Amino acid sequence: MKNYIKTDEWNIIEEGFDPHLNKISESIFSLGNGHMGQRANFEEAYSGETLQGNYVAGVYYPDKTRVGWWKNGYPEYFAKVLNAANWVGIDVVIDGEQLDLAKCKVSDFKRVLNMQHGYLERSFTAELSNGNQISVKAKRFCSIVDEEAAAIRYAIRPLNFSGEVKVTPFIDGDVSNADSNYDEKFWDHVSNEALGSDNYITLKTRKTNFEVCTGSRFAVQHNGEALRIDAEPILKDKYSASTFTLNLKQGEETVIYKYVCNVSSQNYAPEKLLSACKTVIHRIVDKGFDVMLEEQADAWLKKWAESDIVIEGDASAQQGIRFNIFQLSQTYSGKDARLNIGPKGFTGEKYGGSTYWDTEAYCVPFYLATAPQEVTKNLLIYRYKQLDKAIENAAKLGFDKGAALYPMVTMNGEECHNEWEITFEEIHRNGAIAFAIFNYIRYTGDQDYLNDFGLEVLIGITRFWKQRVNWSAAKKQYVMLGVTGPNEYENNINNNWYTSTMATWCMEYTIEALEYVKTHASDKYQSLLSKLSFDEIEEIKAWQHIIDNMYYGEDKELGIYLQQDNFLDKEIIHVKDLPAADRPLNQKWSWDRILRSCFIKQADVLQGFYFFRDKYDLDTLRRNYNFYEPLTVHESSLSPCIHAILASRLGLEQDAYNFYLRTSRLDLDDYNNDTEDGLHITSMAGTWMSVVEGFAGMHVQDDVLKFEPFLPGKWQSFSFNIGFRANTLNVKIVAGGVHIANISGRSISVEVFGKMVEIGEGVSVFVTQ
Ligand code: BGC
Repeated sequence: MKNYIKTDEWNIIEEGFDPHLNKISESIFSLGNGHMGQRANFEEAYSGETLQGNYVAGVYYPDKTRVGWWKNGYPEYFAKVLNAANWVGIDVVIDGEQLDLAKCKVSDFKRVLNMQHGYLERSFTAELSNGNQISVKAKRFCSIVDEEAAAIRYAIRPLNFSGEVKVTPFIDGDVSNADSNYDEKFWDHVSNEALGSDNYITLKTRKTNFEVCTGSRFAVQHNGEALRIDAEPILKDKYSASTFTLNLKQGEETVIYKYVCNVSSQNYAPEKLLSACKTVIHRIVDKGFDVMLEEQADAWLKKWAESDIVIEGDASAQQGIRFNIFQLSQTYSGKDARLNIGPKGFTGEKYGGSTYWDTEAYCVPFYLATAPQEVTKNLLIYRYKQLDKAIENAAKLGFDKGAALYPMVTMNGEECHNEWEITFEEIHRNGAIAFAIFNYIRYTGDQDYLNDFGLEVLIGITRFWKQRVNWSAAKKQYVMLGVTGPNEYENNINNNWYTSTMATWCMEYTIEALEYVKTHASDKYQSLLSKLSFDEIEEIKAWQHIIDNMYYGEDKELGIYLQQDNFLDKEIIHVKDLPAADRPLNQKWSWDRILRSCFIKQADVLQGFYFFRDKYDLDTLRRNYNFYEPLTVHESSLSPCIHAILASRLGLEQDAYNFYLRTSRLDLDDYNNDTEDGLHITSMAGTWMSVVEGFAGMHVQDDVLKFEPFLPGKWQSFSFNIGFRANTLNVKIVAGGVHIANISGRSISVEVFGKMVEIGEGVSVFVTQ
């Protein structure tokens, strides 16, 4: 665990330059706007340890699979989010020596991520080997107003000399992915140009043929006056730059602005890319850096008004939760249903492909409450559009009759994951996708989503479950064999309680959804039935038979559900009794030892208790929690938040708070020693869930928004804004009660501490426990 980020409620601050921390900081200080994003690489050259990362949403490369032993059904490729052209580059050469923080004396280094207004700032003084000292102040952002645009302000001031400084703003597309399977480069050169202050390059991805045009224009100012610059073009394969020499005076600041645009063939015909890129560049240059930044700040303030969580009395927790919300908002804007949320967002390459069940299970609750309804709807539509591929995927594995198995990892709907225990067996992801439809409708009330999109997905998923179970003559019940639950420390197990519960729940919900659409949109119902050749009587009958006769492992004496068959044959040891040197297990133990042990990677049975809150009483939850929690090592960042929520329900306030601490500053403090690979973007939504669904106990039941809050001991209060249907509410939990303000929308009834309260528009109420 590191502890070098300064505590501040709105800013992430690093003071002093430690090259050993640079890759971690490159992740932490990442920027993004939903359309593109980047790690916090330096503008000037840097020859030290770095992971260069610039990403354009949705642009990927199908890197040929590399596995030790091929199995039928494996996908041919693993989709990779591509490292795209580096557009931040500004090379600075003083007296023939390149400015490179790995090679000079660095002082007064400071990096600040301003989360309130959405920009990154960096300043330092460098002393080069020739003794020249220079101070640099850089500021940049990816615009959330104009998602194809970004801008940089790079100010240099010679401190102890006057003289010539050579400056070269460039765009470099000759980049590669650190995780490339065969050390291949993924981009081909299409065209480039450099004219005056303008630089453009267009690149094309190999195999997938995405084209991305990246353009920039620089401008230079001295003492507030624009300087006329005669720049020399430099054009190379996949590279475009303009180089010029400035005559700098000691103590005087010169500012280089770089206006940037990234457009991709996802949104323009390839032959129109360059002109589209130029149009954006002209537009933003006309606006200027300061206006763009003002607009950026306003847009971020608006986002914060929808999504902020304010914690009084604990600045470190405040910084942690805002960092999570900020990074989530930078990753997905919800404007484009072709995009999704990768576990690392735009902050690194790990997990390559974009979409995991993380989106439905963890991110959906966050976006539902903190962003307009369309944002979550677009996440659901993403899966709807990939239904055909999910059906193809299931067919590859031997399922038929329209059964759909969504992939474990995907970019375009095709499966990219290739470890049989996960690809073929971690099928619970199908359940999370169905649950997200239910959750979206429960939260928004948009029941008609079923008519147009939801039901078709549900039928595909339920048809899969129907074929995935089998009748056990011995048990005289249905069983589900050979699965991996969310706990990936068990593979090829039988009757994973969570997966089986998910499967029958999907069946029940699909039957309900069929009934709804039949009653409310009978035309659509009929056409869907014929499109899917759905046999209303026979298929529902078969599903119902499974619902009524499914086997779930239980231990009556302990009063718990069994994670899988024979779980109790394991030697039951509590995590607290493991030697510290054995942790994390996934780095210290052989896989064989992990599989045979009782240790649980992440919430599994308890994940089911989280989803199906209303189905189980508190005593059942308590027994299962008390049994499984001590066995859980939380070696997935997705785990502690579920435990925090359940501990909150059980009144285990200190436990809930401790779990929350493990997620909220996971990346800021580099808890797992892996922040340098990128941030844990999807688990950040889990942190939000810990506070809102955990500490505040927010949930929706029978169309009513409910709260069962408590105030963590250290905090004086915490408050958050949420959208719920037509309302925006501010909820503030203080010692002894809850203030709820109905900021906008009609009068609303909510339940707090089990009491119904009616709150008119503009009215604030205080409810005591
Ligand atoms: C977890 C999965 C998760 C994936 C991506 C894995 O370590 O076990 O549940 O989907 O990471 O976040």
